[in-house]
Amino acid sequence: MTSIPTLEDLEARLDGLDGKRILVRTDYNVPLDEGRITDDFRIRASLPTIEWLTDRNASVVTASHLGRPKGKPDPAYSMEPVRERLGELAPGVELLENLRFDPGETANDPAFVARLVDGVDGYVNDAFGASHRAHASIVGPPQHVPSAMGRLLQKEVEVLMGLRAKPRRPFVAVLGGAKISDKLGVVEALLDVVDSLVIGGAMCFTFLAARGIPIGDSLFEPDMVDTCGRLLETAREEGKAILLPDDITGVDSNGVFATFGQRIPDGAKGFDIGPGTAAAFSDVVMDAGTVFWNGPMGMFEDDRFAAGTRTLAQAMADTKAFTVVGGGDSAAALAQFGLDDEVDHVSTGGGASLELLENGDLPGLAALRGEFS
Ligand code: 3PG
Ligand code: MG
Repeated sequence: MTSIPTLEDLEARLDGLDGKRILVRTDYNVPLDEGRITDDFRIRASLPTIEWLTDRNASVVTASHLGRPKGKPDPAYSMEPVRERLGELAPGVELLENLRFDPGETANDPAFVARLVDGVDGYVNDAFGASHRAHASIVGPPQHVPSAMGRLLQKEVEVLMGLRAKPRRPFVAVLGGAKISDKLGVVEALLDVVDSLVIGGAMCFTFLAARGIPIGDSLFEPDMVDTCGRLLETAREEGKAILLPDDITGVDSNGVFATFGQRIPDGAKGFDIGPGTAAAFSDVVMDAGTVFWNGPMGMFEDDRFAAGTRTLAQAMADTKAFTVVGGGDSAAALAQFGLDDEVDHVSTGGGASLELLENGDLPGLAALRGEFS
């Protein structure tokens, strides 16, 4: 694999950056509530690259998508709130309008790429969270102008590829969230490198069902039961532990909060791992050398079902292990509990971090190596 040019390489290639116009693809797909940014993590995370460039007198133009507008302007997805926040953090830095207001972005249309790079001397990809998308602004510019990875992208790749290559053992992956079908590829890839896999979130019910354990009316994926059974079998053959909850909290058939053992009665529903499981999972995290966490342990937005996720988040903070948290819901949970500064690395990408762990590469990285066409 050829290596990816760094900012220093770009500076050398352009004979200095003074007065050069540099297009920086950032991931400013931030959560919004009625037009207000509820978490500016992704904006702050882009500052090291932007400041490195502006310190060298480059003129920086940033560009991002926001949400999933349908290829035409939609005021609900205007970049204006981001532009305002960026103006406070990095005055004088330009930000283009939402890239997905043009259908050419997701279609990777060459004409749209041509417009993006028009008048631009160099391109920097710092949008780790979007680098699993083969979209125009991610894979197009490196085919036309000297290009590099930004500091954020570089750090993400180092940390996540490091997990695949040389994790300190034992290496424990903690997975949660609703669906195993979304994460099947990564679960299979992780099984090759981890020592144990800890499973919470609604996806645990599909695994419990595969073991023939009654799950009441809990959310699960009937189509995935056989696959989960095979994963359990493979893990057993390879001597890897897959840990499932042995107590669950949820609601009984009258909708009243209840704690169950591993078997959930008919009509009842599980929404979080139980206290015994949370303690057992935490012990595994405390004894680990490396931990990767993706996906909440339960429906943490509801206070009654936040305990499992909070306990695991606290263990992530307390352990001496090298701790990496995938973006998305687990990062949001950490932030909600005020623990986001207590882990070693919080990824800015949800889907991107899983895809990089699974495949060891992303379209955006291939493009920077000159290998995407
Ligand atoms: C994200 O938030 O996951 C990234 O910005 C990618 O967004 P997308 O899933 O809409 O492509
Ligand atoms: Mg720690």
